[in-house]
Amino acid sequence: MRYLSLFVLLLVNTFLLNAQTKVLQKCVGYKVFDNMVVFSFENNQHMAIKVCSESLLKFHYSPDEKPVDKDFANTQSYAVVNETLGFEGKINIEESQQAYEFYTSRLRVRVNKNPYQLQIFDKYQKLLLSDYNDQGLIKNEDGLVTYKTLRRDEQFFGLGEKSGNLNRRGKEFTMWNSDKPCYGVYEDPLYKSIPFFFSSYKYGVFFDNTYKTKFKFGSESNNYFSYETPGGDFTWYFIAGTDFKTIISQYIDLTGKPIMPPKWALGFAQSRGMYTYEKQALEIAAEFRKRQIPCDIIYQDIGWVNDLQSFKWHKDRYSNPKEMLKKLDAAGFKMILSQDPVISQSNQQQWKEADALGYFAKDIRTGKSYDMPWPWGGNCGVVDFTNPAVADWWGQLQQMPVADGVRGFWTDMGEPAWSNEADQDRLFMQHHDGMHDKVHNVYGLTWDKVVKEQFEKHNPGKRIFQMTRAAYAGLQRYTFGWSGDSGNGDNVLEGWGQLANQIPVGLSAGMGGIPFWTTDISGYCGDISNHLAMAELYVRWMQFGMFNPLSRAHHEGDNAVEPWMFGEEAEKLSKAAIELKYQLFPYIYTQARIAHDQGLPIMRALFLEYPNDAETFRIDDQFMFGESMMVAPVVKKGSTKRAVYLPEGEWIDFNNPSTIYDGEQTIQYPVTLSTVPIFIKKGAIIPMMPVMQYIHEKKDFPLVLYVTKPNEAQSIAFNLYEDDGESTDYLQNKHSNTRFELRTEKNAAVVKIYPRENKGYIHDGKRGYIIKTPATKKPGSVIVNDKKIKSGKIKLIQQLITAIPESNTWYWSADEQMIYVTVLENQQTSTITIQP
Ligand code: NOJ
Repeated sequence: MRYLSLFVLLLVNTFLLNAQTKVLQKCVGYKVFDNMVVFSFENNQHMAIKVCSESLLKFHYSPDEKPVDKDFANTQSYAVVNETLGFEGKINIEESQQAYEFYTSRLRVRVNKNPYQLQIFDKYQKLLLSDYNDQGLIKNEDGLVTYKTLRRDEQFFGLGEKSGNLNRRGKEFTMWNSDKPCYGVYEDPLYKSIPFFFSSYKYGVFFDNTYKTKFKFGSESNNYFSYETPGGDFTWYFIAGTDFKTIISQYIDLTGKPIMPPKWALGFAQSRGMYTYEKQALEIAAEFRKRQIPCDIIYQDIGWVNDLQSFKWHKDRYSNPKEMLKKLDAAGFKMILSQDPVISQSNQQQWKEADALGYFAKDIRTGKSYDMPWPWGGNCGVVDFTNPAVADWWGQLQQMPVADGVRGFWTDMGEPAWSNEADQDRLFMQHHDGMHDKVHNVYGLTWDKVVKEQFEKHNPGKRIFQMTRAAYAGLQRYTFGWSGDSGNGDNVLEGWGQLANQIPVGLSAGMGGIPFWTTDISGYCGDISNHLAMAELYVRWMQFGMFNPLSRAHHEGDNAVEPWMFGEEAEKLSKAAIELKYQLFPYIYTQARIAHDQGLPIMRALFLEYPNDAETFRIDDQFMFGESMMVAPVVKKGSTKRAVYLPEGEWIDFNNPSTIYDGEQTIQYPVTLSTVPIFIKKGAIIPMMPVMQYIHEKKDFPLVLYVTKPNEAQSIAFNLYEDDGESTDYLQNKHSNTRFELRTEKNAAVVKIYPRENKGYIHDGKRGYIIKTPATKKPGSVIVNDKKIKSGKIKLIQQLITAIPESNTWYWSADEQMIYVTVLENQQTSTITIQP
């Protein structure tokens, strides 16, 4: 029996081996075309390497025969917008008996001839990436696969918005945009496909293939990892970085900068599945203002529309939408509407029109428009956004509610929905750009592109608000993201695991070009029969959600998740969490601009800031918020303490600023329901503003500079970024910059405030500064521009930090263990010295 099974195993193995062919086996020559070299192999196969920059290479193999010329590596991509990234030279190949080699100033690329093997080294000759033996490109029954050597200590991160631990080592993942309601903690695939990952060996790979690709990070063997595709060309980019941040920035150079959100998009947003009524929207808005809970956005879910997707208001639910929008606007609210990418057959007139125009994906079995069952509104035609003719048609439709005063869209169900791997029927769909297996993962992206470009066409100069569920790499050029239907559908009270999972989901989304992201605060799934019983989970979700760049509370059906639904304490704590987010707005908005410029997420995995601290590779439940704050949300029921890992340096407890922790240790941090564990780096400048009920509520306000003294000899700076918050002028870099510097001199904190610099924009409100810094005793003296200033008595801290200063004065709060210095704004640089 034993022998028999061994024999079977051998047979299977032989079969598997036989089924594999090495596509690139013996390299026989090359041709150089400036920054590209095409290597030729036996059997008339070719593979190109293009040097895009000194540290970024493109690899391209096509199973189709094509001429070996200067255009060989030109590919059509949905993701890549620019691959000319600064390499000016010509590739210079050095040939030896065994190999071809060439250099950039950062890399050495070696192509071993026979058997073929690709190896990439950094300039110090450290091996970054190597084909696993001769397994550089294999064809098997599943398609094309490359095997790469896996090092014992190599770790992987990335692939965008995916579930589970940030460290992907030992796991495998599939790219197939899928609608997975109430998804589990390790469920894969989810809604988005971002085939970009990076390694602890400081390189990244972007596998630009839209088919159902797979990534195996040592799940099959400890000796190799692999990525594979069932179709299309084998095109991938290699990105070397000095750290993870530089890898991400280069990925952004390649795939485009994230659009800046309008300012108000970073405020709090309220939603619900059955937010589909005019009266209700007005009532909810009024309730926020009455309770003085800041809020900027009211969403309307898909029931706002009469028929999918007429873009006409549901007649029974909205009697005067324009008037509603005016009223909301007057109260400082923006409305965002859901749209689905389909036309229902029950909407006969529109369906027939689109069908006649050929705007739907076709069913190749019938030659007719594909008939897709949709969760609501009956069967639907799937609008084919890869067809260029669709754009203007859709644009003029979606403009109707925008003309009424709606501020943007929530593009939902773009997988297209009800899709998961089990649904094979949809593979019969044919789009303008090809069959569905090629288009599936980019379907959502092609829709987002239309929504954005058409919005801008009809509303020139205005920033788009778009938040989307299904997408492919490059989505950041068109849209923001949210993580879809989390939460526990069987028992809403058991959503703790899903809440915890949202942290790495969001962090990984951020590293894949989705810096503007939100979870559904409360978790989307599950009926809430007892709000009070859910209060703790809701508060914890809210406290985490306020550190999402976009912060939206949303829940399925008519389950209300407004902060006041969960009892007095939950309301108070939610309000406090929301207020803190509004106070942090000046800091957050500057981070948003950094995200636009460099693609760096605002919510950052610890290892982005501390790449040399391997301990951070296993931290999934904490994150940096910008470069100066670290947040460790509480995500366990009934917590009284929270284990927090502190990376190198020293950390000031934001909740109790007289406590400073040493880094490189894990502490047990005591918590109550009101605690959000937040730690500030020693040596930080965090600009804040007073609480507002919505982002643009007041023009005149003091800027509070929360500063923590750095070590002597260390000097830090913060450049406050401001712009008009609504227009696309930021693309011409129109903004204002206000620089702050901070250093410690003979134990005194020295803060320098520079005048606001007009770089095409200047905030026209009145201002003044309040420096706020933790201290265990009152200062010996405070000097502003060589003049000792007087001290004042604090009556109410709230009043102090919300009023524009009228004098240069310092205050000491023994209760808070905090020094406050009010500083008048003038056109000169002010130097403030706080002496111990
Ligand atoms: C699915 C989305 O994920 C969810 O947020 C939304 O409420 C429903 N579609 C209804 O439109």
